[in-house]
Amino acid sequence: MTQVANLSASSLDSEFYLPADAFFRANLPMALTFDDVSLATLYSEILPKDADTSTALSEALKLQIPIISSDMDTVTESRMAIAMALNGGIGLIHYNMAAKDQVKEVARVKRHIHGLIQDPISVRPDLLIGDVLAMIEQRKFAFSTFPVLDEAGILVGLLSGNVVKERYKAKAVRDVMTPRASLITEHERAIAKDPIKAADAFFTQHVGLNKMLVVDDAGKLRGLVTSSDVERITAEAKSRRKPARDANFRLVVGAALAPVRKSNGELDRDRILTHVGHLMDESIDAVAVSTAHGHTAGVGDMVKLVHQAFPNLTIIAGNVTSGSGVEFLAECGADAIKVGQGPGSICTTRVVAGVGIPQLTALHVAARSAAAKGVKIIADGGITKSGDIVKALTLADAVILGGLLAGCREAPGEIMEINGKLFKQYRGMGSLSAMAAGSAARYGHDKTDQTRKLTAEGIEALKEVSGSTDDVLGTLIGGVQSGMGYLGAKTLADLRQKARYVRVSPAGQKEAAPHDVIEVSTRKN
Ligand code: XMP
Repeated sequence: MTQVANLSASSLDSEFYLPADAFFRANLPMALTFDDVSLATLYSEILPKDADTSTALSEALKLQIPIISSDMDTVTESRMAIAMALNGGIGLIHYNMAAKDQVKEVARVKRHIHGLIQDPISVRPDLLIGDVLAMIEQRKFAFSTFPVLDEAGILVGLLSGNVVKERYKAKAVRDVMTPRASLITEHERAIAKDPIKAADAFFTQHVGLNKMLVVDDAGKLRGLVTSSDVERITAEAKSRRKPARDANFRLVVGAALAPVRKSNGELDRDRILTHVGHLMDESIDAVAVSTAHGHTAGVGDMVKLVHQAFPNLTIIAGNVTSGSGVEFLAECGADAIKVGQGPGSICTTRVVAGVGIPQLTALHVAARSAAAKGVKIIADGGITKSGDIVKALTLADAVILGGLLAGCREAPGEIMEINGKLFKQYRGMGSLSAMAAGSAARYGHDKTDQTRKLTAEGIEALKEVSGSTDDVLGTLIGGVQSGMGYLGAKTLADLRQKARYVRVSPAGQKEAAPHDVIEVSTRKN
């Protein structure tokens, strides 16, 4: 009888499929990344749809999905951050903009009420219907019902679409509108907790109405909800995860902090703290100190400065790829540490500076220190498919996505057409153009220093337009839940605990992707 035959099935498995520590040690001195490994499946009673993808970046900041949109100027501004939070994740607003603009972007997310049109197009009572018709024609509005407001923004009536006709063009709005006294409105307090639920109840109660006008104590119009939006959002909500919200039901959002320095090179503490104070006034949920090299005195000082001034604020800091880097940032006051040096799809750090560690080995080393220090780990960069996210989450608490989200319609930037295909710009924050726009400090350069040429550590690129963030996240999270199902993991903590790895050869990598067939695209353009 051979030795193998004596082994029980489970000890045979554990000899071939190794848990993280044994696996990464066994592969030394080779460092590994996503495509180098595959996960072994386990007995499962978990259906993918029942796998719980919730996670936390700190005691205070909980997410429904472990996905963060990168603080890059071609990925995250308020539109992306709103879409991320509505899907249960969080967006980090980039800092390549004036500090006051970044505060405004954060405010847009925190004040976003899904379904409520906060600045509806309105008309004045003294306009003629002819003027309203001209406005609709000129601005190509697809609707013709407008709230009527006086100069102070007080709601005085509703101009219904069925009187916005050529026949009435010489009449004044005030003569044909439904006056305020005949309108049924809703107070903003009544919708504060859950606007969609409140609007749904409103439309059920008031048969035939299809606009809910929201007013404040002074009678000012605070917003408008249409019944068709409520129906669409309710239908979407069935297939979507729960949004990530703060204790006051507002969407969560984070912002990257620029390490602003004085002319003598010292951190400009006053400017930094004033800016974080303004972000706190808008109830920011997290700040990110994002640099290419986080294990440095400068980043440590910045984290300490913010942590001492705002001890309850969640601080994300990085990037590092070593256990001592994690320990250092944790001791400075960071709650979640970003891991990744050079894996990003637009990164050239490894090419330019010759440094960096393939991402999975870096995550494993960082995760061990993070566990000892009680901080979270975020895998940042290099993720190109949902399987990479599953592998990253066997070691990390969340992932940051750049390239996978840059083609979404909510990412900043114009759509361009090249040879019949649609693209959006995606550039590294260490590319020359992004550094010139402000991010030079992230890579340890001074954009005002004309005596030295900035050395780029990133490229400028294009991403094919990929539809909505909802769709992209839906597909990615579907993949994550499949992975959890294969490993019998109900929660992400189970996934981390159960993961066992094998090394994949080049032939194994070929086998892992579709091969020896001609792929037929079923995508609708
Ligand atoms: P993905 O692969 O998701 O990576 O597109 C996004 C992450 O890449 C980092 N990043 C850079 N790294 N040079 C670098 O070496 C750059 O110019 C650059 N810009 C972004 C960043 O961590 C981001 O989240």
